[in-house]
Amino acid sequence: MFAAKKELDLTTSHASLVIGLFEKPEKFTGELAGLDERFEGQLTELVRSGDLSAKLKNITKVHSFGKIGAKRLYFVGLGKEKELSFDKLRSSFGKVFKQLKASKLEETAVYLDTFVTEEISSLDAAHALSEAMALATYQFDGYKQKSNEPEKRLEKVTVYCASLVEEDVKASLSVGYAFGRGTNSARTLVNTPGNLLTATDMANYATDLAVKYDFDLEILEKAEIEKLGMGAFLAVNKGSEEPPKMIVLKYQGKEEWTDVIGLVGKGITFDTGGYSIKTKAGIVGMKTDMGGAAAVLGAMEIIGEIRPEQNVVAVIPSTDNMISGGAFKPDDVITSMNGKTIEVLNTDAEGRLVLADAVTYAKHHGANYLVDVATLTGGVITALGLHTTGAMTNHDGLYKQVLDSAVEAGEQMWQLPLFETEKERVRNSKVADLNNSPGSEGHALVAGAFIGEFTEGTPWVHLDIAGTATTSKDHDLGPAGATGVMTRTLALFVERFEPIEI
Ligand code: BES
Ligand code: ZN
Ligand code: ZN
Repeated sequence: MFAAKKELDLTTSHASLVIGLFEKPEKFTGELAGLDERFEGQLTELVRSGDLSAKLKNITKVHSFGKIGAKRLYFVGLGKEKELSFDKLRSSFGKVFKQLKASKLEETAVYLDTFVTEEISSLDAAHALSEAMALATYQFDGYKQKSNEPEKRLEKVTVYCASLVEEDVKASLSVGYAFGRGTNSARTLVNTPGNLLTATDMANYATDLAVKYDFDLEILEKAEIEKLGMGAFLAVNKGSEEPPKMIVLKYQGKEEWTDVIGLVGKGITFDTGGYSIKTKAGIVGMKTDMGGAAAVLGAMEIIGEIRPEQNVVAVIPSTDNMISGGAFKPDDVITSMNGKTIEVLNTDAEGRLVLADAVTYAKHHGANYLVDVATLTGGVITALGLHTTGAMTNHDGLYKQVLDSAVEAGEQMWQLPLFETEKERVRNSKVADLNNSPGSEGHALVAGAFIGEFTEGTPWVHLDIAGTATTSKDHDLGPAGATGVMTRTLALFVERFEPIEI
């Protein structure tokens, strides 16, 4: 996929050569002076006339007419050098890779040195490049009958980088690519419809990951789930023909099983709402209700590739939320694994129920820190819109580490409060310890507060991705559909994690 070379050779033939250009003054110096010379100064002329602009994310394609080995030049505007961030660089790369994909190019070269600044090293730029390349060229093929013509895909990228050893550049390229690919795997899981991705399919997927990356694997079957007393998880599965699966993956990167990070992902393969049934408009798209599980599995894939010195246990409660004569109902009282009883007031508030037992089970496996990810509430969309993940926490230090990772991953996140008032609302039931739906005000807050009841003092961050797991619009780093949100944030968080004094 990637080849790294030190010296830029303008005579080598490439389908295209991608070059970064900074604003004011836009100049062709160093190796690029030679390029401009071959074009008899016409590139400088294009800049002067305004046809070649270095404004951020402005992309200009110039045919080389045989003046150099590469058939086409793609100039990527990077704006002012001092203002370029890693995030802007990544999306600039994304934009140009999308264009290369649309032009059906199978091969390209990138002159990496032209993307480097004082703040962004060649290694960072290499990471941004390969991550963007994987993300931006992602497509979900779907299930249409295919034409016979094989799809042309970008398959080879030659990276010219004079300032570093080829091996280091290659290593950074493969890490960035792993981050992109893990995210794409999460996207594919989310894009897959509920009839083709059942809890059993999800368990099989996790099994394949475990084999590939040598993770410890545990798949709890219904009988074992019953034995462990996971009454909240089981309640949600009651209406289903599909057996539930509690999926556990363990990655041990330290000598001892200490400082264990628990990643918990909501894995509802389809959410009808149950007897508190969704509307006919609201039910469409509920195949994506396993977006949290997908992010956790995508992050585990990245972790399997980069193998950080950390310990991680991933726990995914997976089932669909269906209706039948046997389904759970409003007014039912159920008992969770940690013994707390729950009055069900709304069967559509099922995510917090399956997560309650999953959080308890992650602790059972030694998790000292917890991060749960879930397409949990429509309320988070009302509060924060479609581009920002809502976060809640019982531990500011842990949250800061998650937030820092989100910033670096380019994924927007905003903290919502966990106040006593919401905890009290969740604890307000005449017949049980808790209720799963204390009224329509502040849905996102009470859902988070409910999960918090099961953390029992363990530092925890809750991430509500109901708004961010999918997008209706094409963007620089991918097509409309599943975003794979939080995959990279979780993987970075694990990679950088520093244990907290408790
Ligand atoms: N899966 C939904 C949340 C959701 C909504 C995800 C929109 C993606 C897009 C969740 O299980 C749910 O139904 N939540 C309800 C809770 C309510 C009934 C207390 C909600 O937020 O409306
Ligand atoms: Zn629901
Ligand atoms: Zn749901």
